[in-house]
Amino acid sequence: MDYTTKIANTTFDHLFINAAGVYCQTAEQLDQIQEAEAVAAVMTKSATAELRLGNQEPRYAAFPDQHNTINSMGLPNLGLDYYLNYVLKSHLKRPTIFSVVGLSQTEIVANLKKLQASNYTGLAELNLSCPNVPGEPQIAYDFQTTDEILKQVFAFYDKPLGIKLPPYFDLAHFDQIAKILNRYPLAYVNSINSVGNGLVIDPKTDKVVMRPKDGFGGLGGAQIKATALANVRALRLRLRPEIKMIGTGGVTCGRDVFDHLLCGADLVSVGSQLAIEGPTVFARLEKELEAIFTEKQITSLDQVCGKLKIF
Ligand code: DOR
Repeated sequence: MDYTTKIANTTFDHLFINAAGVYCQTAEQLDQIQEAEAVAAVMTKSATAELRLGNQEPRYAAFPDQHNTINSMGLPNLGLDYYLNYVLKSHLKRPTIFSVVGLSQTEIVANLKKLQASNYTGLAELNLSCPNVPGEPQIAYDFQTTDEILKQVFAFYDKPLGIKLPPYFDLAHFDQIAKILNRYPLAYVNSINSVGNGLVIDPKTDKVVMRPKDGFGGLGGAQIKATALANVRALRLRLRPEIKMIGTGGVTCGRDVFDHLLCGADLVSVGSQLAIEGPTVFARLEKELEAIFTEKQITSLDQVCGKLKIF
């Protein structure tokens, strides 16, 4: 299958990306993704201006039997300069996407000004959806602030920029966020981040499984697939066609990838299952996807992308 896809100035020759946050905190992990088979691009850990240690441990729990996770990492990262240095290295085998975050509007703008002033010309992704910083809301649930940030950013930022959104659960919210996003020259929308503020209880101890935020944290894995598909589909139907989409959430097998494509994803990113299975996950997903294509006699991505049938 020809997987060639273009977003802004970047051409991808596979479908898969590591979701921001997974396998991408250190240069060693990023290199492992670069080297993995069937990878479209490597996403860096969402960077704050300075190094951050993140939340206290335990801050992540995986339930591999159910392909599920919960996390409250709190954006541990090595700081913007570290990732900038990484993406500017000339020998990278795959395209990169530079994930940027900020703990305030001022920091977001300052971080993007730094990227704008740098030699980096590739894609960047603005994370407006982290659910795990104690005391900080998920910005993209506040439509007015999201609009203000995008207005401020696009007044100076002229390199390709995507945005990472939290899941929405109301059709009125899809309408509202799409109306805002359509005003800006976004390269793509990545939907969804983890489903914020879930709670998992350990039946052996009757205790929450993570320390930060009294156990509340972002859900990932198979449990969020339906929410992810709904968000990709709802946004694809509402966004300008020039804005591409990365589908994230609930991908554990080839069929999940196929479903994201049907809903309109141009690329698919994998978080929990990558954390559970490691970087060989991408080749497995591609193989399973190709078996579906063969069975359905699909010879081009155009036959699948956005082609979800309804009654
Ligand atoms: O679930 C998430 N965890 N989403 C993010 O955007 C950041 C990450 C973290 O570091 O907490």
